[in-house]
Amino acid sequence: MSTRRSDDPHGTSLDGRKLRPESLMMSYGYDPRLSEGAIKCPIFQTSTFVFESAEEGKAFFEVAYGLREQGAGEATGLIYSRLNNPDLEVLEDRLSLWDEAEACASFESGMAAIATTLLAYARPGDAILYSTPVYGGSDHLLHHFFLQYGIQAIGFTAGVPISRVEPDLVRAVGDRPVAAILIETPANPTNALVDIRGVADLAQRLERHGRRPMVVVDNTFLGPLWQQPLKHGADLVVYSATKFLGGHSDLIAGAVLGSREALAPVRALRTFLGTMASPWTGWLLLRSLETLKMRMTASMKNARYVADFLRDHPRVRKVHYLGHLESDHPLYEVYRRQCTAPGSLIAFEVEDGEAGAFRFLNSLRLVKLAVSLGGTESLAEHPCSMTHADVPAEAKERFGITAGLVRLSVGVEHYEDIVGDVAQALAAV
Ligand SMILES: Cc1ncc(COP(=O)(O)O)c(C=O)c1O
Repeated sequence: MSTRRSDDPHGTSLDGRKLRPESLMMSYGYDPRLSEGAIKCPIFQTSTFVFESAEEGKAFFEVAYGLREQGAGEATGLIYSRLNNPDLEVLEDRLSLWDEAEACASFESGMAAIATTLLAYARPGDAILYSTPVYGGSDHLLHHFFLQYGIQAIGFTAGVPISRVEPDLVRAVGDRPVAAILIETPANPTNALVDIRGVADLAQRLERHGRRPMVVVDNTFLGPLWQQPLKHGADLVVYSATKFLGGHSDLIAGAVLGSREALAPVRALRTFLGTMASPWTGWLLLRSLETLKMRMTASMKNARYVADFLRDHPRVRKVHYLGHLESDHPLYEVYRRQCTAPGSLIAFEVEDGEAGAFRFLNSLRLVKLAVSLGGTESLAEHPCSMTHADVPAEAKERFGITAGLVRLSVGVEHYEDIVGDVAQALAAV
């Protein structure tokens, strides 16, 4: 806790009832009295902070560098914006509320969050397991970067029960320690699910040489509103905050959440890699979080109309949408257990492969043709040649990233206008 804010100035409960995150997004972690009464947390656009005395500076460093235990009631002093900054501290406190996490660290991108987290736990000679498909950037990091340091990435298919992939994984791991199991659920772009509890149980069985793999869940697609992985056995949750958390397609950011203990090495490495978010990014995210629930709810409701329309359309072959999962699907029970809503991402396959997908994308008028997702505006892209261009052709086929697949991130526009645009663009397929 910094000296510029108080932990709980207005309280987090009312008449003994716990206040919900959406009620606390405008106030939690910020005390106007410490900032000239400003109702909003100002932007602390500063690199460094003035100490009141040399003794204070020494005390702040001792705590920040873990040289001694923090005293009871002792505030973590502000030192330098690569270590901490009020905008980031307030942001991290507020983000923690949604996932009911003990701690949070914010980053300048989702990739910075993922890379710093994996680097904090991986050692040469380790393996990292990961569900496939994953976001193209994570895939590249695992296959190209980590391999140079003798860390082997071993993939397993999302969308099938863990018991079916476990024997192959155990064989592939052998006697090596596994630094982490990174899962992206639902997967980008196909919405394939991974059983978080199943992976947490598998992690126990994969303990080697006294090290148990960290279960890291990329919760960008559904979280934090519709899925809270820490409640299902995950150790750490990572976000591309560029997406729903930012929500306006105007910033790049990331976040990692978990217990204080699990986050400690990640936070420490962030200091030395310098992958933290800037005060300006932190401030923009604080503004975004005030409307998070409204935005995610509006998009989620809109997506149902769009997905139902696509399912009945003669030029659409297949729709990947969590709200259409049938009760006889092998992961239906996992969906009911770990997700509270289907979210607002839809992938669908049109007739005539890439040519059909391109005709569709080039005909859109309201929906924008762009990568990224989770913004207020609806966005559509072609995973096969864009976000997942780097994934080998054979793997794309296996994951269902076909030439005719389009990914649609449904925004907050009026649903009839989105459906209308999709309908007129499908007429061109
Ligand atoms: C699921 C997922 N994780 C991580 C990332 C990377 O985030 P960023 O672009 O903020 O670095 C993305 C980006 O599209 C993503 O979709």
